[in-house]
Amino acid sequence: MTMTMWKSRNRRTASVLAIVCLTTALGLPATAQAAGSTARCTSGAPGIGDPYYPNYGNGGYQVRKYNLDVTYDPATDVLDGVAGIKASATKSLCRFNLDLVGMTVRSIKVNGARARWSRTEHELTVIPKHPIRRGDRFQVKVKYDGVPHEFEIPGFGARAGFMTTPDGATVAGQPEVAAGWFPVNDHPLDKARYSFDVTVPKGYEVVANGFLTGRETKRGWTTYEWDPREPMASYLATIDIGHWDVHKWRTETKLPVYDAVDSAITGGLRAAIDSSLARQGEVLDVLGEAFGPYPFSTVGAIVEGQDDLFFALETQTRPVYSKLFWQDAQGNPVNGDSVVVHELAHQWFGDKVALARWQDIWLNEGFATYAEWLWAEHEGQATPQEIFQATYDAIPADDPLWDVVIGDPTVDLLFDNAVYVRGAMTLQALREKVGDDDFWR
Ligand code: TRP
Ligand code: ZN
Repeated sequence: MTMTMWKSRNRRTASVLAIVCLTTALGLPATAQAAGSTARCTSGAPGIGDPYYPNYGNGGYQVRKYNLDVTYDPATDVLDGVAGIKASATKSLCRFNLDLVGMTVRSIKVNGARARWSRTEHELTVIPKHPIRRGDRFQVKVKYDGVPHEFEIPGFGARAGFMTTPDGATVAGQPEVAAGWFPVNDHPLDKARYSFDVTVPKGYEVVANGFLTGRETKRGWTTYEWDPREPMASYLATIDIGHWDVHKWRTETKLPVYDAVDSAITGGLRAAIDSSLARQGEVLDVLGEAFGPYPFSTVGAIVEGQDDLFFALETQTRPVYSKLFWQDAQGNPVNGDSVVVHELAHQWFGDKVALARWQDIWLNEGFATYAEWLWAEHEGQATPQEIFQATYDAIPADDPLWDVVIGDPTVDLLFDNAVYVRGAMTLQALREKVGDDDFWR
């Protein structure tokens, strides 16, 4: 079970968290009105309307594409970025917001013209020189730099977000990650296309979503070009910097696979990890049988060697995994197939079909946990109904797990075990009720 392990491990280590607290770095004063006619333009909203996270995402526009051109130096942890954002206005805008936490903004242009901006802890308000008309496409170019902001997993206190590691960086968080390293409309309601140009000192390697489309070394720095190809929610974007053993292969159905395992992971642990990754094609077959065709053009894994990463995340096409899923408490290698099943199930539930509100998180976690039950059946271990019954019997009636309202768990319990376990139980109960024909329709 993905979360149980994740939970118990981070309970032991919650105190080692170092949260980088960068707040308002100020841009130009934003009190002045934009030049030109402001008569009929409006302010884009600072939030997209999520009841749990009122200032996440923004209103008044939709992003079409992020071109992220970033240079990251593991020696200083500093990221130097140019974010090119192509968007369409859904309202006429004299100003609009992006989400950005920490980092220093150096300049902003909108449609090539210098813009003003102001900042609060989470909001970057951009005031273009010329108002943007409703329906128009526009381009924003933000130059920024700094040590990316790190977040915590809600309710757990474990580190998440853009995490610097001894040999580079790991980028994974939910719901908070993207705004810590690039200006973004940070909500799954606004999926967009991406392209990444990540430059690192020669000798470091970068893995991200999608396809590696270029690599070039000049004057001691290497630029990796990654193309995720399909649109994605902002929290699913990842760039992972380090030293990787890369394995490129194809499943039996010819789907391209790109696996990257931290080169520091060796021995029995490495063998256990490799054995799970080798089964990804089979996992996708089983899940495809249940959920329909795999929704993306590539797949794979990023397995991190850092000791203080306590989770896996369904980063699109290429989940990030903690190596700890393949280790027991004594450090002996264990079978970790089910976490791969879980994260690959999220490619359907969470990634392809994304949440409209974070409070609906059980639609991600309940389905991904149910996928683990389907896998257990495929492996001949137990049927979903048997797992349902055993789970039901194992949890005492007065356990707080029964009290969580999984459709409205509150921000602190967003990733509570109840959301996972009772989410999957809900699906099994429904299946029992309506019968297989309707359940699988
Ligand atoms: N969605 C992840 C999973 O179940 C777990 C998770 C919850 C997580 N919150 C997170 C991962 C924050 C990274 C950061 O697979
Ligand atoms: Zn999950």
